[in-house]
Amino acid sequence: MALESPSQARLPLLAVRELNFHRDIETILRFQVEIYETNFPGFRVTATFLRDYRRQLRRVSRQWSEGLFVLDDGQQPRGFLWVGLITTLISPTIGYIKNIYIAPELRGQGWGRELLRTAEQWAAERGATEIELDASVCNEEAVRMYESAGYGTRRLRMAKDLRSFGA
Ligand SMILES: CC(C)(COP(=O)(O)OP(=O)(O)OC[C@H]1O[C@@H](n2cnc3c(N)ncnc32)[C@H](O)[C@@H]1OP(=O)(O)O)[C@@H](O)C(=O)NCCC(=O)NCCS
Repeated sequence: MALESPSQARLPLLAVRELNFHRDIETILRFQVEIYETNFPGFRVTATFLRDYRRQLRRVSRQWSEGLFVLDDGQQPRGFLWVGLITTLISPTIGYIKNIYIAPELRGQGWGRELLRTAEQWAAERGATEIELDASVCNEEAVRMYESAGYGTRRLRMAKDLRSFGA
């Protein structure tokens, strides 16, 4: 779908489309460095990690229960979305957002929210009654985006540093 900008003037050709694995994969892998290193402070993306990620994406790119989208500027991906269907203890089908990314120079213009809408629509069309995601508390921009789009916290993953026990 070709999109007029959600706000302000910007690149005229930006559009959300499905991932073309062979054409897009190298750019999508480059995005993963910031995504993983921002959301998991201390983690370093390695060549092995990227090789496994590439394999995983190639496998799921053929599955009905996985949705892979890019924000395309007419030449290359400038954003990425991975959404899938999962089952939980209480819901047989819910959407789960695994990865969402907008290139730094395009942030703050509504494209992240546009990808969120794409994920929600994709999941609803496949029968999902709800959509979930995990977010790192340190990623304030992402948490704010989810909250402003209507997402709320259902469970907290809590952590405590145990290194002083070994000292
Ligand atoms: C998170 C991310 C996808 C947001 O994309 P974006 O295109 O900048 O988001 P939008 O422009 O659609 O903004 C949507 C809302 O997010 C919040 N937001 C976005 N950037 C923000 C910032 N710098 N500071 C505070 N809030 C921000 C705002 O609530 C905003 O709504 P508003 O404009 O009505 O105030 C983008 O920052 C990103 O790709 N980050 C790196 C990858 C990542 O960490 N992904 C999330 C993994 S959980």
